[in-house]
Amino acid sequence: MPPTIRPRRLRATAPMRRLVAETRIHPAQLVLPMFVAEGLSEPRPISSMPGQVQHTLDSAAREVERAIAASVGGIMLFGVPQQKDAVGSGATDPDGILNRATAFLASRFGDATVVQTDLCLDEFTDHGHCGVLHGDGSVDNDATLVRYADMAIAQAEAGSQLLGLSGMMDGQVDHVRAALDAAGHQGTAILGYSAKYASALYGPFREAVDSSLTGDRKTYQQDPANRREGLREALLDLAEGADIVMVKPASLYLDVLADVAAASDVPVWAYQVSGEYAMVEAAAERGWIDRDRLVTESITSIIRAGADTVLTYWAVEQAEWLQTRGIGARS
Ligand code: PBG
Repeated sequence: MPPTIRPRRLRATAPMRRLVAETRIHPAQLVLPMFVAEGLSEPRPISSMPGQVQHTLDSAAREVERAIAASVGGIMLFGVPQQKDAVGSGATDPDGILNRATAFLASRFGDATVVQTDLCLDEFTDHGHCGVLHGDGSVDNDATLVRYADMAIAQAEAGSQLLGLSGMMDGQVDHVRAALDAAGHQGTAILGYSAKYASALYGPFREAVDSSLTGDRKTYQQDPANRREGLREALLDLAEGADIVMVKPASLYLDVLADVAAASDVPVWAYQVSGEYAMVEAAAERGWIDRDRLVTESITSIIRAGADTVLTYWAVEQAEWLQTRGIGARS
């Protein structure tokens, strides 16, 4: 008997596939992470992330203009300071590179895009950990919360509209929310990097921020073996008042992302991290993979799994493809 039920009917032509596509990318769903470095006279390429650079303030402004022209939803800023110390002083200094870049970009572009900042100490500490340390070298959770509170106020005062809490300290959302409110910054929103796994995929990022980390982050970032714990972390951040929750990395954690998306009553984001970017770029450089197709397929899959918004180093490029070729508009 020939089949009467034929799913292939809806795949027969490009217009039909476009009509029935369940997932579409919109440029406003894409957020561009950007690195701004202190003391550079021109942008410096990041060798493990071909196409990405450490920006000067001027080159960052040009990139933000390009992102706005492509209708990208927002930018997420990371600072690369020249001086680091044990407590990450540069993070709370209003003249520190991240706060200076935030003020510079928010005053110019705050009406046209959402300027967001990474809130974590690792870029600013000489030991490279996301918090301050006990005498024995372990990360002191509660002393770190005090530093995060000060960092949050500095970032809000610089003009950041959305603070990305990426340090994975217990109680960080609650603590930062209380500090912001007490300082009159009730309007500053919090993005919890809620389910953040201790991943090898952050490797290229460490070059991007000149990280001095030796060792690992396994006592605060999550074990890749644990799915249930990802949901638990997201539920805790929701209870603590996170305005948005995030899962990170994205592609290897789509199960966690789907769990969080099913349980969350606030927007759910995902971070397609440096290693996800580097793997595709490296394979494409060797001619082993169709780069542009894979970029769109990966972002589509992250949205399909439940992300409302994706942080991705391809944000501007993907958004420009939507404008010029419609790629990603059908999936
Ligand atoms: C912490 C932070 C990291 C990333 C974003 N925020 C590094 C880490 O946790 O080791 C990684 C992003 C990427 O790999 O693209 N400040």
